[in-house]
Amino acid sequence: MKTVLITGANKGIGYEVARHLAGKGFHVFIGARNQDAGRKAADKIAKGGGKATFLEIDVSDNASVTAAAREFAKAADHLDVLVNNAGIIVDGDSAILEISDDLFRNTLETNTLGVLRVTRAFAPLLRKSKGPRVINVSSGGGQLTGGADGWAPAYCISKTALNGVTSQLATALPKFAVNAVCPGWVRTDMGGQGATRSVEEGADTIVWLASDAPQDLTGRFLRDRKEIPW
Ligand SMILES: NC(=O)c1ccc[n+]([C@@H]2O[C@H](COP(=O)([O-])OP(=O)(O)OC[C@H]3O[C@@H](n4cnc5c(N)ncnc54)[C@H](OP(=O)(O)O)[C@@H]3O)[C@@H](O)[C@H]2O)c1
Repeated sequence: MKTVLITGANKGIGYEVARHLAGKGFHVFIGARNQDAGRKAADKIAKGGGKATFLEIDVSDNASVTAAAREFAKAADHLDVLVNNAGIIVDGDSAILEISDDLFRNTLETNTLGVLRVTRAFAPLLRKSKGPRVINVSSGGGQLTGGADGWAPAYCISKTALNGVTSQLATALPKFAVNAVCPGWVRTDMGGQGATRSVEEGADTIVWLASDAPQDLTGRFLRDRKEIPW
C-alpha cells in the first residue's frame, strides 16, 4: 500500500489533499501539531472508508519531527510521498522595513526550515520507496520573476527560500521527484473566504504530483499542473 505523510493535514488544503489521496488508496498519515484536531481529521477520513493515521508533528520543532519519524517507522516500513504543507502567515500587510526579527525568524522556522527538517528526518523512509516524491506547498508570493508586490514580506520571502530548498533537494536527491506547488488563492483559514479557489481546486496539483505525475518531473515550480517561473 502506498503511504503519504501530509504536514498540517488537520484542515485546509492539507486535509483536502489527505482526503483525495485516501480515496486513491493511499495509507494517509495526517501530520498535525494539535492532537485533537489531527485525530478528528484522521477519524473523518477513516469514516469515509479511507486508511488514515494521525501523526503528531510540529514542523518548527526538531525534537517533534524526529519523534514523528520514529513513530511513523513503527506503523509503516517506507514512505512514498511527503507533502510539506504546514505553513503560517503572521505578517499581514506590514511593510518589509516594519517586520521584526522575531516575526521573520518564526516564519522561516516553519515555512522554510520546517520543510527541510521534515524532509531530512523522513529521507531514510522515502529512500525505501520505489518512487519517492516530495511536494513542497509554496506560493506565487515567493516568485522573484516580475518582482515583489510588497504583500506579507516575511511570508513571501519564506516561500522564495522554500523554492530554493526545493531546487537544492531536487539536485541532492536524484532518485526522488521534488517539486514546489502554488495552490492559488484558496478559501481556507489562511486564504480567507474571499479567495478565488475552493480547497478542491487548491489541492488538485498536489494530488496529481503525489499520484499521477511522471516520476521524472522534478526540480520544478508548478501551478495548475504546469510549470511556472521561480
Ligand atoms: N490558502 C491560500 O490561499 C494559500 C495560497 C498559497 C499557498 N498556501 C500554502 O498552502 C499551505 C496550506 O495552507 P492553508 O491555506 O490550508 O492554511 P490553513 O488552513 O491555515 O492550514 C495550515 C495548516 O498548517 C498547520 N501548521 C502551521 N504551523 C505548523 C507547525 N509548526 N507544525 C505543524 N503544522 C503546522 C496548521 O495547524 P494548526 O491547525 O494547528 O494551526 C494547519 O493544519 C501553506 O503552506 C500555505 O502557505 C496557501
